[in-house]
Amino acid sequence: MKLAILVGTMTGTAQLCAQEIELALDGDGVQVETLMMDKLHPSVFARRERVYLICTSTYGQGDVPDNAKAFYQALCSERPGLGGVRYGVFGLGDRTYVETFNFGGKRFDDILSELGAERIGERYTHDASSGTLPEELAVEWARKWLEKVRERLSQPA
Ligand SMILES: Cc1cc2nc3c(=O)[nH]c(=O)nc-3n(C[C@H](O)[C@H](O)[C@H](O)COP(=O)(O)O)c2cc1C
Repeated sequence: MKLAILVGTMTGTAQLCAQEIELALDGDGVQVETLMMDKLHPSVFARRERVYLICTSTYGQGDVPDNAKAFYQALCSERPGLGGVRYGVFGLGDRTYVETFNFGGKRFDDILSELGAERIGERYTHDASSGTLPEELAVEWARKWLEKVRERLSQPA
């Protein structure tokens, strides 16, 4: 199985989570590649043999981080058909932003499902004000998520 982790980050926390997930999951039948969103184009989803993990934080007023903006905007304006794409979302945010908690991950989730992609598992919403370490929870969550991915891939399309 090939897994591509797509990272949206401002101060590196989401990147750290992605690195830890890659370290934990790579091998044992899974090939993991981590891609920063900076230079990504929606065509990254053309490789349907991959499973995708969106790993992104939230900034501004519920916006995606700066390095994810062009990629997100391109998805919204170009609207490629993403039928057959499977993805998960590990989102980072802070509950003190009550109105926009974890909107970065939510925005990607909304547009990907609108374009026909299928989310596997629930969207994870890390809370920076919880005092927990996102990189530890990311690995824990990603292991369980991978089980769900394997289950889904063993079923008919
Ligand atoms: C200026 C600023 C704005 C933020 N806005 C939001 C927000 O609207 N919603 C949210 O859930 N978290 C918000 N956050 C919290 C970040 O998403 C959170 O701290 C995250 O862990 C940062 O991850 P990163 O280092 O990968 O960018 C904001 C943080 C900062 C510093």
